Amino acid sequence: MAESGTTLPYRVHALELGPMENFIYVIEDVSSGRAAVVDPAWEPEEIVRLAEQHGLEITDLLLTHSHYDHINGIECVLEEAPNARVHLLKPEADFWGHTLTRPHLHHGGDRLMLGDTEIRFLHTPGHTPGSACFHLPTGDDLITGDTLFVFGCGRCDLAGGDPEQMFQTLRDLRTGLPRQTRIHPGHNYAEKPSSTLEEEVQGNPFMHFHDLGPFVHYRMHEHDRIRSSPYGPVPVNEGQ
Ligand SMILES: [Fe+2]
Repeated sequence: MAESGTTLPYRVHALELGPMENFIYVIEDVSSGRAAVVDPAWEPEEIVRLAEQHGLEITDLLLTHSHYDHINGIECVLEEAPNARVHLLKPEADFWGHTLTRPHLHHGGDRLMLGDTEIRFLHTPGHTPGSACFHLPTGDDLITGDTLFVFGCGRCDLAGGDPEQMFQTLRDLRTGLPRQTRIHPGHNYAEKPSSTLEEEVQGNPFMHFHDLGPFVHYRMHEHDRIRSSPYGPVPVNEGQ
């Protein structure tokens, strides 16, 4: 379990759960004792136990996207936190077509206050049409789901995936956020569990492309053939 700084209004707790090395995050608002669970899945009792250990009330569930390995604990967590609200982007809800309990649908740019903790919803399509990253601007933390991994990015060949959108999404993250932003991915696929945006700009091959065409070819046809996890940094290759 990892925790971030002590002077911020929040802490980010990470749990690695399930057979696919998923990271489930619990955002703790220190002053109110409220907790938001990002991508409740696999072992909901572990999520609830973590909240109890820290004396937290789970008031919100945040979904980066609708894939099974990120959402399969929603109902179990809601049984323990019956008043919690479920947040996701409207384009993901439309793509998913699932009937949710108490959904709160958002658009990119929306903000949620978890006590004193500000959480921004970023619309980051590419892995799925309504994928979201959750940005905590006070401490420059970014929870990225399957959009951005440490030294990797999410597949774009599944239903709803779009490598052209992923190219633009990664560009927007690279140019729109401070380089010290800490990346918290949806899977533990790399040689370390988190990184900074600066490390990603330097070492993530998907961040190295200047042109759409070569990016799409690499994502769809090259990457999975030539790289395997755990991912490590890749040096910038001039001309990409
Ligand atoms: Fe996914």
